[in-house]
Amino acid sequence: MRSLRHPQNPTRSTDRSGIRRVQDSLLKWFGDHKRDLPWRKNRDPYLVWVSEIMLQQTQVATVIPYYERWIRNYPSIAALAKAREDEVLKSWEGLGYYSRARNLIQGARHVMASHAGQLPQNAHELRLIPGIGRYTAGAIASIAFGLPEPVLDGNVMRVLCRLRDLQGDPRKSPLLDQLWSLARELVTDTHASNLNEGLMELGALVCTRQNPKCPACPLVHQCLAFKRGTVDERPQAAKRPIELLRSVQIVIAERGSAKVLVHKQDQRAPQWANLWTFPFFEVSAGDPSKSRIRKWIEEQLGFATSPEYLTSEGKYSITRYRFRYVATKVRVTRLSRRALPPEYSWVETSQLGELPMPAPHRRLSKEQLEPET
Ligand code: ADE
Repeated sequence: MRSLRHPQNPTRSTDRSGIRRVQDSLLKWFGDHKRDLPWRKNRDPYLVWVSEIMLQQTQVATVIPYYERWIRNYPSIAALAKAREDEVLKSWEGLGYYSRARNLIQGARHVMASHAGQLPQNAHELRLIPGIGRYTAGAIASIAFGLPEPVLDGNVMRVLCRLRDLQGDPRKSPLLDQLWSLARELVTDTHASNLNEGLMELGALVCTRQNPKCPACPLVHQCLAFKRGTVDERPQAAKRPIELLRSVQIVIAERGSAKVLVHKQDQRAPQWANLWTFPFFEVSAGDPSKSRIRKWIEEQLGFATSPEYLTSEGKYSITRYRFRYVATKVRVTRLSRRALPPEYSWVETSQLGELPMPAPHRRLSKEQLEPET
């Protein structure tokens, strides 16, 4: 039997009629079962771009309200290119991986400057746009322009590894290259969009990681892993990254009756770049001693503060880091003679809602400061 596993067996050698059967079954299934999603109403290249970026690392149900708001706020590349980054980050608040939003603005500005506001109609030039990688370029080229360019995301990897019962790590060469070749072989000139979206949809709805619905799968008769009983072993599971525990102290410093101190994260910050947070600092483990909080404020900003009067605790995760935080409220009793560093600002608590804040800080702001409605 011919196998796709070995590099000496080039994927091109697969029999054409097998490929045709997969394509026909997939197209029919997609026509009958595709979800009615807002970004499928219209194949405007800009909207395909936005939806594909939002869908990276994020569930469809989470994306829908963000997508709908986004297209109202930024209906075109020109509108996005003109927008203020602060506002755009605010629209993204809660979706996470904020570099996606910053890249979308940079990308829109690049398209205005270099392509007269129109996304280029080929995968090579699409990939030169900030934030557009191989997957997104393939998705835009095929879905918006009907070009026979492959896509390979986690769902497609799973479908293809099972279809051909491929062993190995699909995130690394040589299997990764083999999967791109197979994805390319499966996409044709005539139905590029539906074939690619069909593969993704099949991975999302039927060929799921756990409890795949093989009896309902349009490819069950061609699926080698099904035939061999290896569906649950494909694809090889990703090695779980080692989780790293970190602790932070968050400081909610109030002044007068309704002002609170906030900090704009640096544009090069590894997380939350250009977002606003309450001041925080990393501690070695657990709760720092109370005097450390006051000392930190004194050293950083020159303020004197009252004893802490309220603390809360919580957790959040960013990539493989698991953060535990203690948030402590203090009242500023004496301001510094030094000017406040430009990245800090006093804001009215009623205005906190206008700032783009990452989820854990937004939660704290709602719990601790924003008036109940
Ligand atoms: N996941 C990401 N993009 C998708 C699309 N266009 N269709 C189905 N699932 C997807």
